[in-house]
Order: sequence, then structure tokens, then C-alpha cells
Amino acid sequence: MTDYTVSFVGTGEQITVSGKETILSRCIEEGIAQEYSCRVGMCLACSAEILSGEVVQPAARGLTEQERENYALTCMARPASDLELDRGEYPPSIGGDADAAAADD
Ligand code: FES
Repeated sequence: MTDYTVSFVGTGEQITVSGKETILSRCIEEGIAQEYSCRVGMCLACSAEILSGEVVQPAARGLTEQERENYALTCMARPASDLELDRGEYPPSIGGDADAAAADD
């Protein structure tokens, strides 16, 4: 199985993740402080914005189809290429997008 490099912007952390393991499981093994809770693709706590690269995440049930293009649920996502992730960004459906909420007023 191919190994991919996963880089986290902001922290400069970089890990090697095989295409058969989840990004979160490798983060835990490497001691990287990736948030998580449910570990079944529902709570979005482990999400990260995909800045470059591709993931496979068919069980990321907490994301909309559109969000799956730009966000990874690291508990479900396996890399399909080298990746650059921003784990400080969350998808709009988590309800924390203050700018979008303000625009609706
Ligand atoms: S830990 Fe809940 S969606 Fe990943």
C-alpha cells in the first residue's frame, strides 16, 4: 500500500500515512493533537479543511456531499495522495460559521 505525506498548516507537523489507515489513527500514534470524539464520522470534531490533495472517506456521514470535496473527517479519511490539511477550519454544517450566520441577518 502506498504511503502518503500529510502536512498540517500552521503547526508544520508532517506525518506519513498509508492508504489503508485513517489520518486520525496515525495522528494518535504519532502524538499529534488532532481533536476527535465519536470516531464514527458523525460529530465533525475531527474535521480538517483539505488545502491540497485527495482523500477517500465513504463513511464520512457527518459531511454533506459538497463538504466532502473540501473537508476531511480524519477519523474516516484515508489519503489518496499527499495532503495539506488545516485542522483549524470546520465545515459550515458544524454550525460555527459566524460570517455565514451574520450574512443571513
Ligand atoms: S471523531 Fe467524530 S466525526 Fe470524526
